[in-house]
Amino acid sequence: MITIGIVGTGMLGEAVGLHLMDVGYKVIVFNRTKEKTRKLKEKGAKVAETPKQVAENSDVVITVVKDANAVRDVIFGEKGIMEGKHNGMCIADMSTVNPNATKEISKQVTENDVDYMEIPVMGGPNVAIKGKLVIMASGKKEIFEKCKPLFESIAEQSIYLGETGTAHSIKLAMNLQIAMLALALSEGITLTKKAGFDPEIFLKILNSTYFKTGMSEGKAYKMVDENVEPTFTLANLKKDLDTINDAAESFDSELPMAKIARKIYADATDAGFGDLDYTGIISYIRKLSKK
Ligand SMILES: NC(=O)c1ccc[n+]([C@@H]2O[C@H](COP(=O)([O-])OP(=O)(O)OC[C@H]3O[C@@H](n4cnc5c(N)ncnc54)[C@H](OP(=O)(O)O)[C@@H]3O)[C@@H](O)[C@H]2O)c1
Repeated sequence: MITIGIVGTGMLGEAVGLHLMDVGYKVIVFNRTKEKTRKLKEKGAKVAETPKQVAENSDVVITVVKDANAVRDVIFGEKGIMEGKHNGMCIADMSTVNPNATKEISKQVTENDVDYMEIPVMGGPNVAIKGKLVIMASGKKEIFEKCKPLFESIAEQSIYLGETGTAHSIKLAMNLQIAMLALALSEGITLTKKAGFDPEIFLKILNSTYFKTGMSEGKAYKMVDENVEPTFTLANLKKDLDTINDAAESFDSELPMAKIARKIYADATDAGFGDLDYTGIISYIRKLSKK
């Protein structure tokens, strides 16, 4: 059984690591803030002092960090993954980053004789812990095929999407949906509450139509009580909206709603709502209504 390295054991990286051990992989992890490796260590993971040490001791290194700058830091920084490179090693980046940045990072990694795949995912820690993420993969087809058994352990679907940058472009389009859906539900629930009705009536009718979603059938009921355990933070969705807008600009595409959504999530983050689950945007919207 190959050893899997995980660099970044925040909410998502921790869940992926715990699941990989459940299905029998050896796991070695690094996180800048060591406390976040505790659960993994308790379950049997080795905890490395540096990303370099993770690379030296693993066949595939999965990076799951905040953004492109963090990916660059852990790969190319001092005592980074590239310093621990060896024959046959592959870096698979699960972070959500700008497709343009991924292309640059992939080029720099592969020019230095290390394989690289981008594997952004749909689904959060609650899904990752059961191995039921969806992986969107880009990079060389033969590397995808080599890593497929691993990807199939992590995800219930692993979709190969072709050349570098493709998977992240689609991931950004997916997260734009998430941002908009959370806003639409927040405003619908707030409107019905303000009108003096039980928002669950709104959700019941919404969920009897063809434009219901997993979010309207699931988290929306918790949003009514503003009581959602964070699985993906509002600050990270704001980070993704920054990336979506930057990428859109580089593709010469005008996305007016993405610009507005970025401002709303940025204002909410500045107002102190960043550590909430992204659906906590309802608490910010509700606060605006109280004025
Ligand atoms: N949670 C989800 O549902 C979900 C789903 C799909 C994709 N994603 C993506 O997956 C990535 C991780 O998400 P998450 O929810 O796990 O976020 P998180 O809990 O906020 O964790 C972020 C991780 O990035 C690390 N990090 C940030 N800046 C760094 C730097 N400069 N150098 C080294 N490490 C750095 C953090 O280390 P410290 O602990 O030291 O700060 C932490 O391990 C993000 O790109 C996110 O958009 C998340």
